[in-house]
Amino acid sequence: MKIGIVGLGYVGLPLAVAFAEAGHEVVGLDSDQRKVEGINAGRSHIEDISDATLAPLGELLRATANQADLASCEAVIICVPTPLTGSREPDLTYLLDSATVLSQVLQPGQLVVLESTTYPGTTRERLLPILEESGLSAGRDFHIAFSPERIDPGRTDYTVKTTPKLIGGITPACTERARELYSLICDEVVVLSSPETAELSKLLENIFRSVNIALVNELAQLCDRLGIDVWEVVDAAATKPFGFMRFDPGPGMGGHCLPVDPFYLAFKAREHDFYPEFIELAGKVNQTQPAFCVERIERVLNDAGKPVNGSKILILGVSYKAGVGDIRESPSLKIAKKLIDLGGDVSYHDPHVPVLQELGLSSVELDEALRGADVAAIVTAHPSVDYEDVVATAPLVVDFRGVTRSIDAKNLVRL
Ligand SMILES: NC(=O)c1ccc[n+]([C@@H]2O[C@H](COP(=O)([O-])OP(=O)(O)OC[C@H]3O[C@@H](n4cnc5c(N)ncnc54)[C@H](O)[C@@H]3O)[C@@H](O)[C@H]2O)c1
Repeated sequence: MKIGIVGLGYVGLPLAVAFAEAGHEVVGLDSDQRKVEGINAGRSHIEDISDATLAPLGELLRATANQADLASCEAVIICVPTPLTGSREPDLTYLLDSATVLSQVLQPGQLVVLESTTYPGTTRERLLPILEESGLSAGRDFHIAFSPERIDPGRTDYTVKTTPKLIGGITPACTERARELYSLICDEVVVLSSPETAELSKLLENIFRSVNIALVNELAQLCDRLGIDVWEVVDAAATKPFGFMRFDPGPGMGGHCLPVDPFYLAFKAREHDFYPEFIELAGKVNQTQPAFCVERIERVLNDAGKPVNGSKILILGVSYKAGVGDIRESPSLKIAKKLIDLGGDVSYHDPHVPVLQELGLSSVELDEALRGADVAAIVTAHPSVDYEDVVATAPLVVDFRGVTRSIDAKNLVRL
């Protein structure tokens, strides 16, 4: 088959590679010319895809900035961002722009699948009408479906191939076309009754995580007051073989999905005079977590007789999760910014993020920075960092990720 992918980011590029590795011709359309040139030169901008993975694909995977190249594809999959506006409402600009572009080249018989996370109704109410501006009719002249992306960047135990793929089409024929498409690369395809069900299923998955992370973060704040080790509590509860699912506390939620997606559903719910309390509350609790971490650092410094103002504070890890360089919505940035506002002399080390333009900082060399710091805060625990060495070298360490649980040291404080 010849498959078009719109948006070659964390979602689109691994998907493009999966189809090309299965022997299909893939055309990736991206509005970012640098990404297009990079991929065509064999350079990947996504950690999960190495240059060595791109090399053997050769002509099977080609990037382009020209939408006309999509016209010859049998299927086109849309993987563009779905962020929030400044007032935390769904920002469908990228999606609607890419739909407009696609409508200009849409061909009879093509299948269009939306993978971007969004609220129920987007495929039918927003994407479909724009595609029909082509003069073609959905369900008759072309097919359309929704299939949420479930990728977890940095994860190696589940891949695009081994993670079951949900699909829901506008008509049974649309669903069947989407089933055939994803059966080319996925071990299991789960057929749902509609795009709306597939859209909402993805939001449930992310809201489930958001609510549970909020619960355990709130527990961490309470444990701090009670003088109980929250990690020991979570470890203990997790020994129950049924009825409990482990979630770890941390500095707050980041990434393009968890802090964003719940608001997509809250927006849709409001249109129906419904106010989903769990979603809003979880978002609120998780948003307070970086401020709680700042306060924890302040207290640790205070106990050492130092104010934040003028202290050398080293942040370890600024991406939103371990093993990746994605800094979108990262709690580390909020923590660093607040400490800078308080007069802290903040630096950071992150092997995945060499430069932090937002704060005008560059990643510093670890060993020297640990020696010179008043306190080192482990905010994102990249696996390449030796945390025993961190505790042995820095005068004070605050661990918000629980990676030092096996270490007992006087200069170490955990969330
Ligand atoms: N990152 C994740 O872990 C993840 C997981 C599951 C689902 N999702 C969802 O997948 C979608 C994409 O997320 P992502 O993380 O891959 O985003 P991303 O920012 O990494 O990639 C999106 C790509 O789309 C390109 N783009 C934007 N507008 C375009 C347009 N009009 N035409 C062509 N290209 C365009 C951008 O240049 C970028 O390369 C979002 O809806 C997100 O919520 C993301």
